[in-house]
Amino acid sequence: MKILVVGSGGREHALTWKLAQSDLVSEIVSAPGNPGMAKHGELADVAAEDIEGLVPLANDIDADLVIVGPEAPLVLGLADQLRARGIPTFGPSADAARIEGSKSWANDIMNRYGIPCPESRTFHDASVAIEYIEAHPQGGIVVKADGLAAGKGVTVPETATEAIEAVTDAIEHRAFGEAGETIVIEDRLHGPELSVFAFVDGETVSTPVAARDYKRAYDGDTGANTGGMGAYTSPNLCSPTDLDHIRSTILDPIARALVEEGCPYQGILYAGLMLTDKGPQVIEFNCRFGDPECEPLMLRLDSDLAEICLAVAEGRLADTPVAWNNKRAVGVVVVSSTYPEAYETGFPISGDLPLENDAIVFHAGTSENEEGQLVTAGGRVLVATASSNESVQEARTKAFEIAEGIEFEGARYRSDIAVGAD
Ligand code: AMP
Ligand code: GLY
Repeated sequence: MKILVVGSGGREHALTWKLAQSDLVSEIVSAPGNPGMAKHGELADVAAEDIEGLVPLANDIDADLVIVGPEAPLVLGLADQLRARGIPTFGPSADAARIEGSKSWANDIMNRYGIPCPESRTFHDASVAIEYIEAHPQGGIVVKADGLAAGKGVTVPETATEAIEAVTDAIEHRAFGEAGETIVIEDRLHGPELSVFAFVDGETVSTPVAARDYKRAYDGDTGANTGGMGAYTSPNLCSPTDLDHIRSTILDPIARALVEEGCPYQGILYAGLMLTDKGPQVIEFNCRFGDPECEPLMLRLDSDLAEICLAVAEGRLADTPVAWNNKRAVGVVVVSSTYPEAYETGFPISGDLPLENDAIVFHAGTSENEEGQLVTAGGRVLVATASSNESVQEARTKAFEIAEGIEFEGARYRSDIAVGAD
């Protein structure tokens, strides 16, 4: 089958790498793709958010399946438009993607269907939000832009002043544009965080798998929030009993809720959880794979990704195996020096970029210059990913060896990804 992959990051390179191993796949086209994805097929020069360009592209190339990597085109309705033209699509409709695209909508559904999440209130008016903040203990709340804000819309303030600043920035100064015209204030939860992923097709939820990501820019979880500086996955992150509990209290109920709300979910569901002393609670849902969680996760997927994605698109997930192996896998993101602040791009990349089964460099923000040389083109540039049958620490050592071998001006990575994990 011919597959169109939408997106150009490390997540999409990892998906493409996995798809290329499938006997079912004859051709992969990526839009817009990256130089890593180009090793697996043609690149089409259409941006991931260009819905008007992507729909005719899928038609023209006669795609048997479209796999949408990032959230933005899903929230904009790409999956709806493709399905309306009879093209099987992996990724939720715009209505179902509101699970990520509107935090107030997601919280409302969770409250109505009894899915564990923090207490929350929605505000459109800064002065009303400020009154609410002043009536709450300092450090007890979290302020979130309602809409998509590229991972930057959440503030965890220690003081009322910081909380008020976050509210005025979002509502009055439009720091996140329309996405922050509405804000959600949630009770602050405490506990370790865990990301859980499952394929979902209507009411059918696949075997889930867990990963942990590192969002802050610098070692020791310091610095600004980023899209993600690294991630790891291990069967020891969450026991089968705990995963079953998460499935029965969170994943199954949200899938059923979306069916009942008239917007059945089709794609990969990402639940961002906090493991509190009252049990796991949802701090966010995302409507796509995490990036960089996807990169190590693809090293643990034993089943055929193309078969799974087609089954999800055609409503046959219940009859399709989804098996995660017991490997441990670690992804270390090599970033441009000052990411997530402004950074320069266009620096030549050198070093060894392996593409083996257990030691892989996925491209995230790279391009080729006019001389055909690989250069930096984004904040998150490459993701050094490695797996081990034995331990997270063995996978971690390999991933860092690869990261050290990557050279470009200002290249930097966090040195504590998966430290101490098993
Ligand atoms: P998000 O962009 O929703 O992933 O949120 C970014 C980070 O904010 C999360 O990874 C958490 O560390 C933190 N966070 C979000 N919601 C809460 C909450 N209700 N309580 C405590 N921390 C939170
Ligand atoms: N790694 C966090 C995210 O993809 O949202």
